[in-house]
Amino acid sequence: MEAGFRRRRHRDRIPFTLVGDVDGEFVGTSTVVECDLPARRDLRPWLAAVFVESAHRKNGYGSALVRAACDHAVALGERRMHLYTLNWMSFCARLGWAETESRTYRRENVTVMSCDLTFRDGLRASPAVLRGQKTFGIFSRGSA
Ligand SMILES: CC(C)(COP(=O)(O)OP(=O)(O)OC[C@H]1O[C@@H](n2cnc3c(N)ncnc32)[C@H](O)[C@@H]1OP(=O)(O)O)[C@@H](O)C(=O)NCCC(=O)NCCS
Repeated sequence: MEAGFRRRRHRDRIPFTLVGDVDGEFVGTSTVVECDLPARRDLRPWLAAVFVESAHRKNGYGSALVRAACDHAVALGERRMHLYTLNWMSFCARLGWAETESRTYRRENVTVMSCDLTFRDGLRASPAVLRGQKTFGIFSRGSA
C-alpha cells in the first residue's frame, strides 16, 4: 500500500490518493487515476481502490471517501468520473453513480459505472452517516 501511495503522491493533479483518519488512526483510502480499466482507455478519470479497514466499515467512512474523491476531482476541473466494481453497485448508486456497462475483466464480471460530478448537489444534502462522535478527517496524501 505504501508503494501505491508513493506512486500517487499528488494533491494538485490526477492521480491522487485521499486518506481517511479517525482520531489519528488510518481508516481507509480512495484514489483517482487516469485509467483503471485498460479496455476503456477512452474514459477518464477513474475512482479506484476505495477501501475501508474492516473494523471501521458501516460507519459512513467509505461513502465519505467516495464523496471527497469526487469533490477533489471537481476542484481539479473534472466533470465526470468512472469506476468499475464487482459487487458494490448499490453502494455506488446511492452516492450518485449510474451503471453504464457490464464486461469481463481478469475473468470476472465487472460493472462499469459513471458519475456526473456536476449533478451531485442534491446527494450532498443527504444526511451525513458518520456513526458516533469520532473526529474524522480526510487528507490528501503527498506533498505536491
Ligand atoms: C466498500 C467499502 C469501501 C465500504 O466502506 P464503508 O465504510 O463500510 O462504507 P459506508 O459505511 O459508507 O457504507 C457501507 C454500508 O454501511 C451503511 N452505513 C453507513 N453508515 C451507517 C450507519 N451509521 N449505520 C448503519 N449503516 C450504515 C451504508 O448505508 C452502506 O450500506 P450498504 O452496504 O447497504 O450500501 C468497504 O466495505 C471496503 O473497503 N470493502 C473492501 C474493498 C472493496 O470492495 N472496495 C470496492 C468498492 S467499489
